[in-house]
Amino acid sequence: MALSNAFLLLFCCILAISVSVSGRPATFLEDFRITWSDSHIRQIDGGRAIQLVLDQNSGCGFASKRQYLFGRVSMKIKLIPGDSAGTVTAFYMNSDTDTVRDELDFEFLGNRSGQPYTVQTNIYAHGKGDREQRVNLWFDPAADFHTYTIMWNHHHIVFYVDEVPIRVYKNNEARNIPYPKFQPMGVYSTLWEADDWATRGGLEKIDWSKAPFLAYYKDFDIEGCPVPGPANCASSPSNWWEGTAYQALNAMEARRYRWVRMNHMIYNYCTDKSRYPVTPPECMAGI
Ligand SMILES: *[C@@H]1O[C@H](CO)[C@@H](O)[C@H](O)[C@H]1NC(C)=O
Repeated sequence: MALSNAFLLLFCCILAISVSVSGRPATFLEDFRITWSDSHIRQIDGGRAIQLVLDQNSGCGFASKRQYLFGRVSMKIKLIPGDSAGTVTAFYMNSDTDTVRDELDFEFLGNRSGQPYTVQTNIYAHGKGDREQRVNLWFDPAADFHTYTIMWNHHHIVFYVDEVPIRVYKNNEARNIPYPKFQPMGVYSTLWEADDWATRGGLEKIDWSKAPFLAYYKDFDIEGCPVPGPANCASSPSNWWEGTAYQALNAMEARRYRWVRMNHMIYNYCTDKSRYPVTPPECMAGI
């Protein structure tokens, strides 16, 4: 009896330690604030998760309280179920510096019931964007939570869906290709209506009779170099996301990345000759 109690105590201690050491994921308000329409973002599960609402009155949005220079940001999102055509849910990082803006975008474009959600990614470096790629998801992102991650270090930017890299933008500064490196970025998310372009190029309109449209977020995890913070956010061992394991895709990731590109990519600006008669340099240097 005494022995089993001791074991129980030990077990509880280990549990308590492991919980307090990891310290993540954070509650929503630890790292974020609401930037657009308080009434359309509801905290649930003691503030560990949120519900975003889009209706005819408003969409909504939130942003991180701090900015970061490099790091890894992830959250679990459960997108709008059923008929989500005309809605856009975005998760992105942005330097908020107008003309020389850096930005890393995940945009989830809704669709009619039964049609696949599209994930659009885009990258702005030093004010220049127009680098859209699109993949259709290989699962229903409204049926359950999935993890969406932006990894950004001195070597590359990787967009992950669960453990699968769907996009890589390498640091090719040596070839004169711009790379976001000097400006810290905040973390943002918004849910809004964009039926003039989102679904099948704007052909599918939002069906307001299906409103309110609801998306759910949880497991907010920002691991980055906060600014203002350490004098520089260099490649140092204290910034784990700069470590050798994160400087390029590993073999498993590279395999998954190829699989996505071969089976799920539906648009790539790199191969859009009507927009880019001359292939953009990062498309040649990349991959
Ligand atoms: C919506 O579904 C259509 C039909 O399957 C597909 O062509 C399109 O890529 C999907 N996504 C968007 C955002 O339109």
